[in-house]
Amino acid sequence: MNRDEPIGEDLTRTVLERIAATPDERLREVMVSLVRHLHAFARDVRLREPELMAAVRFLTETGRTCTEDRQEFVLLSDTLGLSSLVDELDGAGADGATPSTILGPFYVPGAPFRASGTSIADVDLGGEPLLVNAEVTDTAGRPLADAVADVWQTAPNGRYDVQDPDQPRHNLRGRFRTDAEGRFSFWTVRPVSYPIPDDGPVGRLLRATGRHPWRAAHLHAIVSAPGHRAVTTTVFDAEDAYIGSDAVFGVKPDLARTFERAGDGVLRLTERFALAPLAPPAPDDPW
Ligand code: BEZ
Ligand code: FE
Repeated sequence: MNRDEPIGEDLTRTVLERIAATPDERLREVMVSLVRHLHAFARDVRLREPELMAAVRFLTETGRTCTEDRQEFVLLSDTLGLSSLVDELDGAGADGATPSTILGPFYVPGAPFRASGTSIADVDLGGEPLLVNAEVTDTAGRPLADAVADVWQTAPNGRYDVQDPDQPRHNLRGRFRTDAEGRFSFWTVRPVSYPIPDDGPVGRLLRATGRHPWRAAHLHAIVSAPGHRAVTTTVFDAEDAYIGSDAVFGVKPDLARTFERAGDGVLRLTERFALAPLAPPAPDDPW
């Protein structure tokens, strides 16, 4: 052992040698980096054995909290900013395309198609009516007909339909198809901020680290169109109290909107979703 080396460097080298023959190139790259960073982390904080055991207990409980309807590991990734980091690394859209965001656990595929101009609220739970006028374009601003926007949000009580026995299935969810001008509109209620599920180990970790569980008020959308790259995105209320401290680090400044109150007193959101072409343009043929 070299006395100038950090403690355990020999051990780190041995582990790395042991996985050096991993046949799958990507798995090898990921595992080598994971071991390097894990060992460096343990050295950095001088990890003690009871702390390692506490972490094992925490992760065990995280696993036990997962059910068919709840993914506590994803929530952990969300609250550590990992999901949003991976979104930034992997979901980077083309220039001019609507930025992507994390999907979140409350997306339900198969929402009903609704006619443009109708409401996605199937029951009246109060809240401030909001009219959304949207268009879907390509990155050059050309309207896309036949695009589909799948939207979902919480009720004014801060709950999604799937969390709330008082809401019918698919309340505040809907799919809209754009017209020849790439437009669609719908009525909803102003979204409100709401706490992410915090009655499990992730909630405890939030509290232990002095954090709140609130997401800034938002409206989710997955927008797709033939020949274009679908985008999973979120529109945020710029006036929300949690816009600067979203619990899952999901707010991108380009997606924060100030809802307008027109002369008729109606709250409006005017939104454009821009989609990139599916395949990158063919490189210029030099011949
Ligand atoms: C959501 O926006 O629905 C969400 C995202 C991450 C964690 C919890 C909820
Ligand atoms: Fe949400």
